[in-house]
Amino acid sequence: MKETYLDILQEIEQLNGKDNKFWIISRETGVFLQILLRAVKAQKVLEIGTGVGYSGLYIASILKHMNGRLYTVESNDQRFSMAQDNFRRADLNDCITQIKGHAPEILDTFLNFELDFVFLDATKIEHIDYFNSVYEFLKKGGIIAIDNSLSHYDQFEKFFMVLKKHPRIKGEILHLGSGLGVFAKT
Ligand SMILES: C[S@@+](CC[C@H](N)C(=O)[O-])C[C@H]1O[C@@H](n2cnc3c(N)ncnc32)[C@H](O)[C@@H]1O
Repeated sequence: MKETYLDILQEIEQLNGKDNKFWIISRETGVFLQILLRAVKAQKVLEIGTGVGYSGLYIASILKHMNGRLYTVESNDQRFSMAQDNFRRADLNDCITQIKGHAPEILDTFLNFELDFVFLDATKIEHIDYFNSVYEFLKKGGIIAIDNSLSHYDQFEKFFMVLKKHPRIKGEILHLGSGLGVFAKT
């Protein structure tokens, strides 16, 4: 029988443990991202921090039915390849563009279109740089979601101050998984 993205999610969850640390989002975060993506009718989504593709599977499985596309950036060769394999097995590779490289430097090489949704899940202290690079491409009403917003709050404190003071950014941190910051460009 053909594998579905749900089978691959389950396999990643089972492999994730002491020997393999994939730092995946929680299931509830994945489902909430799917609800948000559907609600805003997201077409172009950028993820920074593909990992092995766990969050990307949640995201792309929704985009596939809305003619959308996920652009996902990963700097680690091994995880990039694992994600590639997982996306292909879930038959989602046709709506995903994987970019290998280090954000924010790599963003310039492909980002020349409006984004509906940005999911940040990479090096915490670099999030201000990611934000500065993607801000102009995020459309009005577009959303930035940030994983680990509570578990790594101390590393995000400066970044959240920037967001809270920003005249066009409105949002909050939700008690979902390890904390999900959800901010919109107004
Ligand atoms: C928390 S994991 C991502 C997990 C993934 N979002 C998921 O839930 O399945 C963070 C990933 O970001 C990658 N990473 C960290 N800093 C990065 C950067 N500046 N550019 C690209 N990838 C980065 C790491 O190699 C790691 O695989």
